[in-house]
Amino acid sequence: MFSCNDLALPILGAPMAGGPTTPALVVAVSEAGGLGMLAGGYLTADEFAQRIAEVQALTNAPFGVNVFVPEATASDPAAVASYREVLAPLANTLNTSLPAVTDASDDDYLAKLDAIVDAKPALVSFAFGNPHAEVLQRMHRNGIATAVTVTSPEEALEALANEPTLLIVQGASAGGHRSVHDQSREPNDLDAIDLLPQLMALAAETDTELVAAGGIDSPAAARTLLKSGAAAVQIGTLLLTATEAGTKPAHRAALLAASRDTVVTRAFSGRAARALRNTFIDRMDAHAPAAYPQVNALVAPIKAAAADDPELQNLWAGTGYRACRARTTAAILAPFITELTAAPDTEQDDR
Ligand SMILES: Cc1cc2nc3c(=O)[nH]c(=O)nc-3n(C[C@H](O)[C@H](O)[C@H](O)COP(=O)(O)O)c2cc1C
Repeated sequence: MFSCNDLALPILGAPMAGGPTTPALVVAVSEAGGLGMLAGGYLTADEFAQRIAEVQALTNAPFGVNVFVPEATASDPAAVASYREVLAPLANTLNTSLPAVTDASDDDYLAKLDAIVDAKPALVSFAFGNPHAEVLQRMHRNGIATAVTVTSPEEALEALANEPTLLIVQGASAGGHRSVHDQSREPNDLDAIDLLPQLMALAAETDTELVAAGGIDSPAAARTLLKSGAAAVQIGTLLLTATEAGTKPAHRAALLAASRDTVVTRAFSGRAARALRNTFIDRMDAHAPAAYPQVNALVAPIKAAAADDPELQNLWAGTGYRACRARTTAAILAPFITELTAAPDTEQDDR
């Protein structure tokens, strides 16, 4: 079964659903010695299976996959309907229409689990919730390691009860959605560096490795987390401007311009997520309910109709986004390889 100790480079490439993660990005991270992670979110199970097969056709290196756990709490349809009314004039201006408010989709969760068992990647990580113990056991029986993403000691305790192989400890600086298990709760402002000391004792009882994520903007930042008890780190935002990433041009340009602040908002999806601040957030944030995935479905046509307009896109970004550079994945990871795989007696001081 996969362990972070197997990696030449103790880095997981964050799964980034919605376009940024491509099979080529996954392969590039894995071939650099880390673990590329393929995002399954928003895809159909068939599309997901096809992308897994694409990665397997391109490399023999180990890689992982990621899925969204369906929401445990139901959203309030009336709150979604009111947000729909707030969004309607903008949709009109863009000559598009908003879908009706529907029940939550489960993102093809069960069929994706079947696809994972068929394909047998090294690792499956779960976002947004605590998967059932039977789901983890089924993966383990098939030789697939498991990782549950947590954002607090309480979530870690609940996750550890089901004995996953790893915990992904996602801090408040992280780009994109925060993996709070109960979406109606406001996310805390703890970073991975704050959470690690609290979680190490818990995780040691079950031999669970911790992977730290959020805001990593340099090899030195990664090294600090590794020295604080993380077995590996998970890097997302820095890979958004990699040549192999499928990040949309408006998103890529906004990251490289480095001129905006990041904020946490529910405006695009109903779930708290960190993004570059723009007009859509300024206008809609105060109105958006905690209602993922219904809000995500409502906003989708607006984003599609204004794909080139950074003011109307979800420009997901972690706090370290100013370190983004337009380079190949290998070039982005090269300084991490130098610093994180150096022999102990040649280690450089923390900067
Ligand atoms: C564009 C984007 C999309 C993301 N999509 C996912 C996802 O599909 N599944 C997931 O578990 N995490 C997702 N995340 C969160 C990452 O796994 C990770 O926690 C985060 O990128 C770490 O912080 P950083 O972006 O500051 O490096 C996403 C992050 C970004 C920036």
